[in-house]
Amino acid sequence: MAAMSPVADLPSRLDVLDVAAIRAEFPIFERCRRRPLVYLDSAASSQKPRAVIQAMAGYYESCHANVHRGVYALAEEATSRYEQARAAVGRFIHAPSTREVVFTKNATEALNLVAFAWGRANLGRGDVVVLTEMEHHANLVPWLMVAEQVGVELRYLGITDEGHLDLSRLEATLEGAKVVALTAMSNVLGTLNPVRRVADAAHDAGAVVVVDASQYVPHLPTDVTALGADFLAFTGHKMLGPTGIGVLWGREAVLEAMPPFLGGGEMIRDVRLDGYTPNELPWKFEAGTPPIAEAVGLAAAIEVLDGIGMDAVRAHEMALTGYALGALDARFGSDLVVHGPRTPGDRGGVLSFGFKDVHPHDVAQVLDESGICVRAGHHCAKPLLRRLGVSATTRASWYLYNDESDVEALAQALDACSDLFCL
Ligand code: ALA
Repeated sequence: MAAMSPVADLPSRLDVLDVAAIRAEFPIFERCRRRPLVYLDSAASSQKPRAVIQAMAGYYESCHANVHRGVYALAEEATSRYEQARAAVGRFIHAPSTREVVFTKNATEALNLVAFAWGRANLGRGDVVVLTEMEHHANLVPWLMVAEQVGVELRYLGITDEGHLDLSRLEATLEGAKVVALTAMSNVLGTLNPVRRVADAAHDAGAVVVVDASQYVPHLPTDVTALGADFLAFTGHKMLGPTGIGVLWGREAVLEAMPPFLGGGEMIRDVRLDGYTPNELPWKFEAGTPPIAEAVGLAAAIEVLDGIGMDAVRAHEMALTGYALGALDARFGSDLVVHGPRTPGDRGGVLSFGFKDVHPHDVAQVLDESGICVRAGHHCAKPLLRRLGVSATTRASWYLYNDESDVEALAQALDACSDLFCL
């Protein structure tokens, strides 16, 4: 059964963004070694606009101190920049309260926080956790660890041959579930999952819903309430921001009822020799000195994305996906096998493919000769690749700074790959 597209099909047009003007804001595109840089690996990490680089440098040059500690003006300024960044993140994902926005190191840490802090307090032997076959290891291994430690039963929603979630046995799979954890968008297939539909069914079954939105928040307008999530995790470096910062959003009542994850400074209100009292939300989950400059950088990234508009980003990427699917199909036919849904409205800007009999690592190496950056391998989703019957794919992924010329460069380099391997 094909899943319904989870997002309204926004008008998909390739002239909706001024890509040349956008690229001019990314200093890395000035780099030209043997060839101009064709960056098609934004699903792994996005490039950084000048505004983000300058915001972080400016913060360190004029405003750095530790946060929530000093009473001097500089420390208060740093604290205020850090908390303003939290508010910006909250607005960006339509969080009902900034108390629900927790800064972490990355999305992986955010998902581990849920699995261990919520899991330890709420899961016991025999409880059911439902995952999907298309999860990134970050939303899989923590639950495997919980299963090992606590003895929970893991169940999986499979995928159809078209790369959609198979929801034909949804209600039966969710029976008795305490947690349903799923990705909003597959980092391999690009599939946009019907999160709301799964969340409604999960809530009917009495489960909490954990959404890995690492590939979703950077590319689509996000409203945590509309998605029906209880927890939602994403990372800064895939959305024009720096590495070293991720976000866990959680419903206030759920976060409130949870014990802390990591212990140390910042996350406590009081410490005695025989115990401690945790801090209020969201600091209860932020042990130690947080990623302050990274939060400032993430806020700058959000300002850039807001300035362009997430509807426009989505419309552009959907159009570019349609263009790429059409262009590669016309050029290579069945020699290039794309994994995942064929309809651009059902997927994000991630295209994993097999090319003739060339190993994906060889493809990636030949593409690099033309200055093209793609990822090859299992993409941290080994169970999914086993389901697809391959050990690796080549993955091209785009963002607001890519256009048809990048797809053309990719196609030309694939021709060169064919020639090199005499195919
Ligand atoms: N999760 C990132 C990817 O899919 C690193 O490439």
